[in-house]
Amino acid sequence: MANESREKWQSRSGFLFAAIGSAVGLGNMWRFSYLASEKGGAGFVVLYLFFTVLIGLPVLLAELTIGRGARSGPVLALEHFGGPAWRWLGVVFVAAGFLILSYYGVIGGWTLRYAFEAATLGFAPDSGAHFEDVASGFDSLATQIVFMSMTILVVSYGIGGGIERLARIAMPGLFVIMVGIALYAFTLEGSGEGYAYYLNFDLEKALALDVVVAAAGQAFFSLSLGMGAMLTFASYLSRESQLAKDTAVIAFSDFGVAYLAGLMVFPLIFAFGLGGEISGSTIGALFVALPKAFATMGFVGRIVGFAFFLALVVGALTSAISLLEVLVSASMDAFQWQRRRAAVTAGVLVTALGAWSAFDLAILDLADSIAINLFLIGGGLGIAVFVGWIMQDPIAEASSGATNSIVYEIWRGLLRFVVPVVLLFVLWHALPETWEKFKAVVGLG
Ligand code: TRP
Repeated sequence: MANESREKWQSRSGFLFAAIGSAVGLGNMWRFSYLASEKGGAGFVVLYLFFTVLIGLPVLLAELTIGRGARSGPVLALEHFGGPAWRWLGVVFVAAGFLILSYYGVIGGWTLRYAFEAATLGFAPDSGAHFEDVASGFDSLATQIVFMSMTILVVSYGIGGGIERLARIAMPGLFVIMVGIALYAFTLEGSGEGYAYYLNFDLEKALALDVVVAAAGQAFFSLSLGMGAMLTFASYLSRESQLAKDTAVIAFSDFGVAYLAGLMVFPLIFAFGLGGEISGSTIGALFVALPKAFATMGFVGRIVGFAFFLALVVGALTSAISLLEVLVSASMDAFQWQRRRAAVTAGVLVTALGAWSAFDLAILDLADSIAINLFLIGGGLGIAVFVGWIMQDPIAEASSGATNSIVYEIWRGLLRFVVPVVLLFVLWHALPETWEKFKAVVGLG
């Protein structure tokens, strides 16, 4: 399996940009902001940071270790280290990638549309009605197809020439835009209320079960864990890479961007007295409350709004790319396909499945719930057990045999005892919510 002709990242920083690009996406802006507001602000943020360290770091290092060691997509990689029975976990990963990308592409299409509108017609003043118009139906399908075509195109160009090249420009750009908007928001009159809302710490609220469960799930989703995306990216690394350091850089960058997203979203929304709009709709919060603020701001709003949605497009695109890459690398491994053929085939199939979400928001919401609560949490549990208990000498594999530092002992201890318990707990408490959504969609009650 040590396939010498396998593509490679051109540099360590190229890999880091791409991995951060996978992690930073709609999860940091759209999902993080609505959870932070729904789950009571700073308490949620602190818990989310806590879980990023406690379960995010260990599982991320586990995925990178498997991927770099096996130098193949998830199915063959698990088989490489665990024998034929473990390839099924890899198959589950591929299925998860399929499901997530199907609806992620729909939301990606919304971001494209809003960026385009800002640049041309401007934001619709009645943002709620507008969102309902364009979020499902043929409009939504059309933007999904455009977004997915861009994703397929970049992946077709390969690791160094497509994914790395885009991430190297896009990620610094995204960061600059976000800092700029956050600073601008700071200057607005009335933004103080936004900070108060975001950074207010309510201990009692933070200890509620649903907040704990949501924070753990978010830490996982935001870091792209539990379905082999990071594993696949690491399979294009060379042996000399320092996985433990890379793990820390990726995880803290991802947290930093989410935190920054809060610093731009809440002050903007509150400066325009739209605090009430955030809690109204979860899926649409970012696409309803913010465009309303931008519409009120006139010309400046078009510029700031365009920059904002451009950043969202970039984040969504670099994440969608990593999801498609999992499907592409697995099908290249399995059928010996050329990259372009794999990208087009997998991309078209995913887009077709996603059309369902494009026509029905309840399906999109259900797919998100199944993907995170079942596939990602379950997949993370599988990875932790695999690396903690099954794989031979993961510490030598992770450190390239170069160290016996205590950090790695702690890592394996966390994977063995802490991560599985936390994830089982989360799985247990998150499943009923998914079940309720499922029943509602199929009309069981
Ligand atoms: N991390 C991405 C975000 O925050 C979304 C995501 C979740 C993801 N799981 C993934 C991306 C797996 C790539 C692969 O938006």
